[in-house]
Amino acid sequence: MLRKIAITAISALTLAAGAALASEGGHVEDIAFSFEGPFGKFDEHQLQRGLQVYTEVCAACHGMKFVPIRSLSDEGGPRLPEDQVRAYAKQFTVVDKDSGEERPALPSDNFPANDGAGAPDLSLMAKARAGFHGPYGLGINQLLKGIGGPEYIHALLTGYSGESKEEAGSTFYENHTFSTGWIKMPAPLADGQVTYADGTEATVDQMAKDVSAFLMWTAEPHMMARKHAGFLGVMMLGLLATLLYLTNKRLWAGIKGKKSA
Ligand code: HEC
Repeated sequence: MLRKIAITAISALTLAAGAALASEGGHVEDIAFSFEGPFGKFDEHQLQRGLQVYTEVCAACHGMKFVPIRSLSDEGGPRLPEDQVRAYAKQFTVVDKDSGEERPALPSDNFPANDGAGAPDLSLMAKARAGFHGPYGLGINQLLKGIGGPEYIHALLTGYSGESKEEAGSTFYENHTFSTGWIKMPAPLADGQVTYADGTEATVDQMAKDVSAFLMWTAEPHMMARKHAGFLGVMMLGLLATLLYLTNKRLWAGIKGKKSA
C-alpha cells in the first residue's frame, strides 16, 4: 500500500515538473493587470481602448466568433452605452441565418469569424495560452498571477526582432515569444497606430497591454462575478468552520472540561 502511494506521488511529481518545463516559447514578463488577484476588476477604460485596438488592427485578420456584440454593454465589461453598441455592430456584415442574405450586424449577433488570413479566432485566446506555470505545476503561480494568458499575448505582440525570412512560399517573422521563434503574423502594432479618445499615448507597449486585457475579458467575461462568488463562498465556509468548532467544544465540554464544579 505505502509503496503504491509512493510510486503514485513520485510519478505525479515527475509529470508536473515535465509539464512546467515544457512551457511554450520564450520568457513572458508578468504584468500587474487590474483584474488579477482575488479582488481584481477589469478596468473599463482599458477594455474600451483594447476594443479599439482589436477593431482597428486585429480584426483585419482575426475573428471573434464566440463573443456576442451586445456583451460590450455588460456590467463588468467595456460598458459601452447601448446606442453605441448598435452603431458599433453596423460596421460588420453578417450572413442572416434565416434569409441567407448579407446584412449589417446587430447587437444580437456575434463578432464575425475571420479565417481569411489563416489567423486563429481570438475569442478564447487569453485562456488558450499560458505565459508562466506554477513551481512544479503546484498552481500557486496561477492563484497569484493568473496563468499568464494576457501576458503571453502582450509578450507576443512586443516580441518581434524585425527579422523575417521566406520559407516554402510564406513569410515568417522572428518573434522571441512564439514557440518556434518564427511566426506567420507580421508585427501588427506600430507606435501611434490608433488614436485613443481618452488621450492615452498609443505606444506599442500600451496598445499590447490594452488589447491583451480586452482579450482576457472576451475569454472570461464573468471573471468579476466568479471572484465575488468565490469570496462569498470562502466567507461562508469560514463562518461554518467557526460554528462547527464552537459546537464541538460545547458537545465535549462535559468530558474534556475542567474537573471542578
Ligand atoms: C496581417 C494579419 C494579422 C493581423 C493584423 C493580426 N494578426 Fe494575429 N495572427 C495572424 C496569423 C496569420 C496568425 C497565425 C500565426 C502562425 O501560426 O504562425 C496569428 C496568430 C496570432 C496569435 C496566436 C499566437 C499563438 O500563440 O498561436 C495571437 C495571440 C494573435 N495573432 C494576436 C493578434 C492581435 C492581438 C492582433 C492585433 C493587435 C493581431 N493578432 C493582428 C495574422 C494577423
